[in-house]
Amino acid sequence: MRIIGTGSALPKKVVENADLERFLDTSDEWIVTRTGIRSRHVISDERLEDLGRDAAQKALADAGLAPGDIDLFICSNVVNEYMTPGLGCIIAAAVGLQCPSMDINCACPGFIYALDIADSYFRAGKVRNVLVVCAEEPTRMTSWQDRATCVLFGDGAGAAVLTEGEGVRSIRISARPDPEKIWQFRPLEPTPFVTKTEVGLPLQMNGREVFRFAVTASIEDIQAVLAKEGLTVGDVDYFLIHQANLRIVEGIRQRLGVPEEKFPCNIQDHGNSSSASCPILLDEYKRKGLFKKGDKLVFSAFGAGLLTAAALVEW
Ligand code: COA
Repeated sequence: MRIIGTGSALPKKVVENADLERFLDTSDEWIVTRTGIRSRHVISDERLEDLGRDAAQKALADAGLAPGDIDLFICSNVVNEYMTPGLGCIIAAAVGLQCPSMDINCACPGFIYALDIADSYFRAGKVRNVLVVCAEEPTRMTSWQDRATCVLFGDGAGAAVLTEGEGVRSIRISARPDPEKIWQFRPLEPTPFVTKTEVGLPLQMNGREVFRFAVTASIEDIQAVLAKEGLTVGDVDYFLIHQANLRIVEGIRQRLGVPEEKFPCNIQDHGNSSSASCPILLDEYKRKGLFKKGDKLVFSAFGAGLLTAAALVEW
């Protein structure tokens, strides 16, 4: 398969680090030094499905396809206002899709997990065109009193249209199941029968361990997708790394020994938008005209689960 269209959509409210200083014991200097983030887009009066719809419509327009051309829709999402139906069905209705729709909750590597699922459908000859939308509002998961987590996140949606072809050359998805490093608990409706204690908790995270894991896992994944195709790091034109923390991206870049210009970043004004991060990054730099035909792009993402994934794409 190959990527023939991309799109993205962001909430209009921009929260600067200075806005956070007003109610949190933090500083612009701390946030920029430790994370690289200066501002982030945050959901206010929008609904996440509207961002997902906008990103999908832009990707379809970019691909020159109509909703009726899509044979499979995959929506990547961690949290949204609906328990059911899946966010994908809400977005599908808004876009006018008629094809099967499935939702995956694979946290930050969700875009690459979706690529892997789509790839299997293409290989099985079941589809001609697939739409992937990653729509995330992680700012609704953290406590805004917890300075170690809330400063990190931003909301948004990114989308890609895939069609038959040779562009996506190698994908690796993996898991090192360890739910205690990043998790959140949301109690269900009470019943007359439930006797266990269920307490809602905002996002809990062991930042240091996640940081270390992210750098190590990403390098392993990148080397694995390249090795599968007989390539080395030097053959890659651009690395599109999940925008979790600029220091994580820098750690990966330095260990791989790659110059800065091969690591496009947008975390500075986005923060971490979970699975939307990679497709938003792709869409923004594609629209800036960064990629030319034949360029080799490597995606790498890591997050809750712990899940990780990487993909090698020839543009
Ligand atoms: N402003 C000011 N101080 C802060 C702060 C903030 N927003 N957040 C934490 N601190 C403080 C801590 O309380 C701690 O203070 P102490 O030394 O008095 O206890 C100090 O800063 C250092 O905290 P530490 O957690 O060791 O900092 P760090 O350098 O590891 O950076 C993260 C913290 C969260 C930025 C970093 O660990 C990280 O980005 N981890 C990965 C998280 C991630 O990407 N998660 C999603 C993965 S998809």
